[in-house]
Amino acid sequence: MTEDRLRMTPGPTEIPARVRERMSEPTWNPDVESEFYEFYRELTAKLEAVYGDDDVAVLSGEGILGLEAAIASLVEEGDRVLCISNGLYGDGFADFVETYGGEGVTCRSPAAEPLDLEAIESTLAEGEFDVATMVHCETPTGTLNDLEPVLSLLEAHDVVSVVDAVSSLGGTPVPVEGIDVCLGASQKCFSAPPGLCVLSVSDRAWERIESFETRSFYADLEPWRTAADEEWFPYTHATSNLFALDAAVDAILEEGVDAVFERHEEAAALCRDRTRDLGLEIYPENDDLASPTVTAISLEGRAREVQRRVQEEHDIVLSTGLGDLEDDILRVGHMGHNARAERVERTMDAIEAVLE
Ligand SMILES: Cc1ncc(COP(=O)(O)O)c(C=O)c1O
Repeated sequence: MTEDRLRMTPGPTEIPARVRERMSEPTWNPDVESEFYEFYRELTAKLEAVYGDDDVAVLSGEGILGLEAAIASLVEEGDRVLCISNGLYGDGFADFVETYGGEGVTCRSPAAEPLDLEAIESTLAEGEFDVATMVHCETPTGTLNDLEPVLSLLEAHDVVSVVDAVSSLGGTPVPVEGIDVCLGASQKCFSAPPGLCVLSVSDRAWERIESFETRSFYADLEPWRTAADEEWFPYTHATSNLFALDAAVDAILEEGVDAVFERHEEAAALCRDRTRDLGLEIYPENDDLASPTVTAISLEGRAREVQRRVQEEHDIVLSTGLGDLEDDILRVGHMGHNARAERVERTMDAIEAVLE
């Protein structure tokens, strides 16, 4: 490993120096130093500007905690949950639903194909659902789902929506206004260290959360509605991680949210062009489904080998696919700080050299 190692995985991403420096500031004691709450309120206000929505909370714990907390807080014994999926993270919601006693009904489309609106509509028409879950960017296949038509259907059926936007939030627009609980994580497009999840919660979702008996402590969202104002968190917050996230959000706001989104689009387009110049295919065949934050390159039966050689010979860290696609997909993350042409060029030069 050299100091120049480039980490182009779809999260954790490279963390800029200003974020690392901020993290090294003296740690506060949130229980004693009341300034902490002011800082937290300011941070969530800045996050709301990135979200384009209000009522954002930040929990200690990475993305999965947010996913579990949403289900633990919104689903009770016997509740029916529609799990809309075209990938691993979409499928995974059904496991959380089962864990918390709900009845999960999965509406599945093939990987990297659009969510099946007709199937969703007919499943919704067949029976009452309380909650629906879905994923904005299926990171393992680099697929960005068009959520707006799905959210309209859910609204028409009065179903509470939970969206995993872990690998898209902060890198591309997310239709947060139509979402009841929208989940993100620090180590993806924010380019902060792993360890925090962020979430926005609608009034309708808060009401549902507050109407339930608590069956979880760490994963219960209820205290977070009033925590910042009442100046009481259910556990000691990860102050150093919050400092880092604050610096990362400042960087996004200084650059401008729209400019950040455009930078992601450009990095992704460059990555796809360079991939096709090598005679390779992008895993989602339709470019409309290709995520601006991560590109999945089809490399049947060769992905692990290319990943290993790019790291050994060029000191660039990439990811492969997951599950059945592990050896068939090579993933280049161009999210957050890594969504820059020079980083994508260096990565694609390395892949080209290995393939030659
Ligand atoms: C779409 C998606 N959801 C959830 C997660 C889980 O996040 P974490 O690894 O922070 O727990 C990931 C991680 O890669 C992800 O890509």
